Amino acid sequence: MNVTKAEMIITAGNKSQFPEHDLPEIVFAGKSNVGKSSLINTLVNRKALARTSSQPGKTQTINFYKVQDQFMFVDLPGYGYAKVSKTEREKWGKLIDGYLQDRQELQKVILLIDIRHEVGANDKMMYEWISHYHKGVIVVATKMDKIKRSQVQKHLSMIKKGLGLTQADSLIGFSAETKQGKEELWEIIEKNQLE
Ligand code: GTP
Ligand code: MG
Repeated sequence: MNVTKAEMIITAGNKSQFPEHDLPEIVFAGKSNVGKSSLINTLVNRKALARTSSQPGKTQTINFYKVQDQFMFVDLPGYGYAKVSKTEREKWGKLIDGYLQDRQELQKVILLIDIRHEVGANDKMMYEWISHYHKGVIVVATKMDKIKRSQVQKHLSMIKKGLGLTQADSLIGFSAETKQGKEELWEIIEKNQLE
């Protein structure tokens, strides 16, 4: 898909702000700093539609982006960021759970894992949650430009094993720097819509 139109709809800090619309929602989930907002920018050919930061915890609201009048992309706040107060963490947790639990518009959750990192307990929990509701989870290994080519297979295998991926799942290597994986991911998103 060659996106020429993408707009921010709302940054929602609570459930009552989730927008009403009739587009399928594609959700990007993963640890703080894994590259969710950067991935959205890459997919929609924009530099800074979604705000990014080298400081983890940038996205603290659930942000909705309308893409080519066909999809609503949903940028979730990252989990596993330790440097915030317990109260704040609980607030995000509630917001994310509140979204994931009963969002009718939700079509697909894409799980992002940093290619350099071990799969964590939160990643595993998110994978299990997604696979409970959707057959064939899409996992994106981000920041592929950060590791040597000779290390790629080893790291991909670690993610596969760490999450317990099955044949039905997809694992795509991605980089917001080189745009590697962009077309492949779009194909999967679009194909999914037809099913
Ligand atoms: P939160 O909003 O905190 O949950 O983070 P996020 O998952 O939205 O991550 P974000 O897109 O803000 O990226 C975090 C940092 O990683 C930024 O400094 C990005 O520039 C960097 N980054 C993201 N993707 C890539 C990538 O593919 N390659 C490289 N080298 N850096 C990346
Ligand atoms: Mg973000």
